[in-house]
Amino acid sequence: MGLKGVILAGGLGTRLYPLTKITNKHLLPVFCKPMIYYPIQTLVDAGIKDILIVTGGMHAGEFLRLLGNGKEFGLKHINYTYQEGEGGIADALSLARYFADDDNIVVILGDNIVERSIKRHVDAFRAQGRGARILIKEVPDPERFGVVGFKGKKIVSIEEKPRRPKSKYAVTGIYMYDNKVFDIIKTLKPSGRGELEITDVNNAYLKMGQLEYSVMDGWWTDAGTFESLLRANNLVARKENNPKSKNQSIKTTT
Ligand code: DAU
Repeated sequence: MGLKGVILAGGLGTRLYPLTKITNKHLLPVFCKPMIYYPIQTLVDAGIKDILIVTGGMHAGEFLRLLGNGKEFGLKHINYTYQEGEGGIADALSLARYFADDDNIVVILGDNIVERSIKRHVDAFRAQGRGARILIKEVPDPERFGVVGFKGKKIVSIEEKPRRPKSKYAVTGIYMYDNKVFDIIKTLKPSGRGELEITDVNNAYLKMGQLEYSVMDGWWTDAGTFESLLRANNLVARKENNPKSKNQSIKTTT
């Protein structure tokens, strides 16, 4: 069973308006690179070379101009597809069906940036072979995210942006799924915000008893609000300026 990577970079980025008025959120700078570089590097560092980028909106063509076939990342080829509208994360993921074929997938949201390699978590999923695996992370502001509820060490619930979070553990935007994910998405109904929610996908796996998790090591951040975009810039700047983390940083080509 192969493992492929999917980066979700659609959506309108309305929370960053007017920064996103004339460009796509994932093309905005995070310190020294466009945002989309980071999730690509995260997948490449985890040993994933077969990558699909799902984008959308008015500026989709710019991804091709920026990334080409991914030579900068040591890739031979990048696949692209286009999400019409902003139907949610699970809607964007449904477009990966033909790309995934019979393989399992690692999904990363285009605005999620991590400090350390996720390779050992991806390897844990390879060993797991089927079902789903999410990466969770303790955060000070869980109400901004999908949040897990525990019974002992077992996840028993996931709620999307709950007013009263059941724990401090956010579901990060890195998800690993077997091929059933596409049939699960077909059964989903739009949420209150009119989107097909990735939290509903994860809850479907939870119900089947096929949801595993890993706790993320190192820092993790999204970059979809002014505050988190600023934090992402500062965290990446600190990492890039730290010689100890040099081996994990994105190579600069001039
Ligand atoms: O960052 C982690 C969080 O991401 C999770 O904890 C939440 O459970 C999950 O719902 C999501 O929350 P957000 O509300 O922050 O997601 P947002 O709408 O900002 O979308 C995140 C990325 O997903 C975005 O950068 C691109 C992609 N996306 C989103 C939508 C709505 C698409 O590709 N298409 C879409 O239609």
